[in-house]
Amino acid sequence: MKKNILKIIFIGLILMSQNSWSQVAQITRGPYLQSITQTSAVVRWRTDVPTIGEIGLTKFPKKRKAGVYLGAKEKSITTEHEILINNLKPNTKYFYSVKNENQEFLFNENQFIKTIPKKGSTQPIRIWALGDFGAGTENQKLVTKSLLNFVADQKPDAWIWLGDNAYDKGKDEEYQKNVFDVYQKDFLQNTALYPSPGNHDYAGKHDSSLPPYFQIFTLPTQGEAGGVPSGTESYYSVDYGNVHLISLNTEEKSADGTFLYDGKGAQVDWLIKDLEANKLPWVIVYFHKPPYTKGSHDSDNEEDLMLMREHVTPIFEKYKVDIVIAGHSHVYERTYAMKNHTGLNKSFDPAKHIVESKEASNKYVVDKDGQGVIYVVCGSGGKVGGQKAEYPLKSSVYSNNKEGGSMIFDIKDKYLKAKWIASNGEVMDQFSIQKK
Ligand SMILES: [Fe+2]
Ligand SMILES: [Fe+2]
Repeated sequence: MKKNILKIIFIGLILMSQNSWSQVAQITRGPYLQSITQTSAVVRWRTDVPTIGEIGLTKFPKKRKAGVYLGAKEKSITTEHEILINNLKPNTKYFYSVKNENQEFLFNENQFIKTIPKKGSTQPIRIWALGDFGAGTENQKLVTKSLLNFVADQKPDAWIWLGDNAYDKGKDEEYQKNVFDVYQKDFLQNTALYPSPGNHDYAGKHDSSLPPYFQIFTLPTQGEAGGVPSGTESYYSVDYGNVHLISLNTEEKSADGTFLYDGKGAQVDWLIKDLEANKLPWVIVYFHKPPYTKGSHDSDNEEDLMLMREHVTPIFEKYKVDIVIAGHSHVYERTYAMKNHTGLNKSFDPAKHIVESKEASNKYVVDKDGQGVIYVVCGSGGKVGGQKAEYPLKSSVYSNNKEGGSMIFDIKDKYLKAKWIASNGEVMDQFSIQKK
């Protein structure tokens, strides 16, 4: 009897192993790009069975079996594939293909890596900012569709996320359904992504060892993409041409017990060092919880938002940040260029707080002294709606809590144009900044 059971187990094991070897691995997620720098890229993908993954690059994607001139192969089998490609040239487009085991490389024109231009380069750059999107709503589809139409002739070079990327709890399966399944084809396989997390990605926890966000994404910790090394995937910066992008984290408690909104501690120390070291003309800072909002959240009543305003906005203003963009509130709100408004909404005084330098409405022309900071809430990429008492903000130039939308920044040398592309396909708000 015992012998027979052992025999059955033995035969079963042989059949199982034969089955796994004969099965062709299927890609169930990706490939998606991470930590794009001037000279490197990380490509990640997931397979249904463990395999050894491999990447090839080519210059000729139209040929079915294109010549592979740079390849990289994993050393051991896995379902979570992650390959770092080094020795790339800045500002260069590489077509890539991933394969598993004995499959062939299959290239196509939509699967490419575009490395970051050289630091300080004045060439045109397009950045797409999207917040509170992975909700599986009709609005998410409409915002995506209108953005795709808008960028049909010029795709975004860089993509920044403002948090609440996958509802409801930032679980891996929620990322699959509401993020990968939605953006894979048009963006994730060929766009340099620099995300930030929101409270829904943390699902109420404050420890980066827990949320799937940190397993799904590979983010620069050592200054690989520019800026001062942060030593953590929680927050980091990127030098994209002549734009310095800073991704902050409003959700995480650092090891020293501080949050960003405390205005001191690990993250704030790094932020100040990073801002002090920056020499690029444009600075865009992004994170989840906004210092000024009257949409689905209220910066007059919610402590973390109030503390962001009181403790952190003075840092942005001191270092002449151009634009601060956040999500969390499921609306669009854009303020005047302003300074020193750390009190409640009703305390906003245009004579005191607006510090603008402009030649016409929404056309800012600033010299080296800069101006105030423009604060944007762009949290209606999926979720949409909501308003608190006193909506719209007294400091708001334009607000919209009816339409969803996302934002495009076009930067060329010393000129920046920002457009909010609404879910109805229209550009419903825009402004420009010319630096002298
Ligand atoms: Fe949200
Ligand atoms: Fe949120």
